[in-house]
Amino acid sequence: MSVAHGIKSLGVIGAGQMGLGIAYVAALRAKVNVQLYDRSPEQVAKGLSLMDKLLAKDVAKGKIQEADARQARERVSVVDHAVGVRALRDADMVIEAVSENLEIKRRIFSELAAETRSDTILATNTSSISITKIASSAVPQGESAASVLGRSSAGRVVGLHFFNPVPVMKLVELISALQTSDETLSRAREFAVACGKEVTVSKDVPGFVSNALLMPFINEAIMWLEKGVATRDDIDKTLRLGMNHPMGPLQLGRHSLALLSAHHLHSIGLDTCLAIQQTLYAGTGDSKYRPSVLLERMVDAQWLGRKNGKGFYEYD
Ligand code: CAA
Repeated sequence: MSVAHGIKSLGVIGAGQMGLGIAYVAALRAKVNVQLYDRSPEQVAKGLSLMDKLLAKDVAKGKIQEADARQARERVSVVDHAVGVRALRDADMVIEAVSENLEIKRRIFSELAAETRSDTILATNTSSISITKIASSAVPQGESAASVLGRSSAGRVVGLHFFNPVPVMKLVELISALQTSDETLSRAREFAVACGKEVTVSKDVPGFVSNALLMPFINEAIMWLEKGVATRDDIDKTLRLGMNHPMGPLQLGRHSLALLSAHHLHSIGLDTCLAIQQTLYAGTGDSKYRPSVLLERMVDAQWLGRKNGKGFYEYD
């Protein structure tokens, strides 16, 4: 087994499209054992069946050997719901990939700090929330956050931001909290490389490099639609054919394989877009990040994109 900087076992919290994608590249490419945990057993079942389909597709296309696919699948196990996060106590690294909600993430990191070994790396796949804030929750009761800066529990927290769809997108953004130790940072980087990814580094600013650039772009497109400057299709087509973007800003979310559509995959749900934009706006106070009214109303209406069948496009 190839070992990514001492990481042989990985816990993944959240079996949605991001968590599942991370489990997939970790088991197949980095060849680590993965324990998958989600508070919804139904989500875990959906995720595993998607993983089976992705592996079968790669085998059918001759991209991987059948034996490699089988071994990757065997490396993935599911955490017993009754045991929960405690089951990850022996993991070398845990990656959290739940929804963009600071309070939920804080709860998870505080539990992880209490339940995991002191050298377990605790990574978050957040797309916009401060890693420093999340790290401050990973301090067990009785430990001072300030007294052992860099060597505290918070020193093992790091941002590892994957992109959707994780099996395809080549990038991972690496973000250091104020508390992150150098060792954590270099082990996390090597793990991402072992997963087959290229790594860029961003400071812990709202949205990091990726979403601080992407979200105003998407939001501007929504506002142009709202103002009636152009139709939905022409806005997307302009970016696709004029700038060679693989998909237009309103469409980011439309693409899915027929194979995958039953799992309601989408690139970014409109609720996630709104949550990220709210974090950017609250974190900077800069009006360029203020979410458009149309986006807010779409989310009010629960028109979230591919995940529930309606967004800027209609989905099967
Ligand atoms: N999961 C796994 N694999 C997938 C997939 C999925 N959801 N969707 C597509 N693929 C694979 C296909 O199986 C195919 O693989 P093969 O080469 O083995 O056949 C490959 O991707 C290409 O697929 P297609 O030919 O069907 O379609 P395409 O040419 O349109 O490519 C795409 C698909 C790569 C996703 C492309 O549309 C694209 O680059 N889209 C933009 C994606 C993007 O911008 N992602 C970032 C979102 S932002 C984010 O994630 C960060 C955040 O914080 C919000």
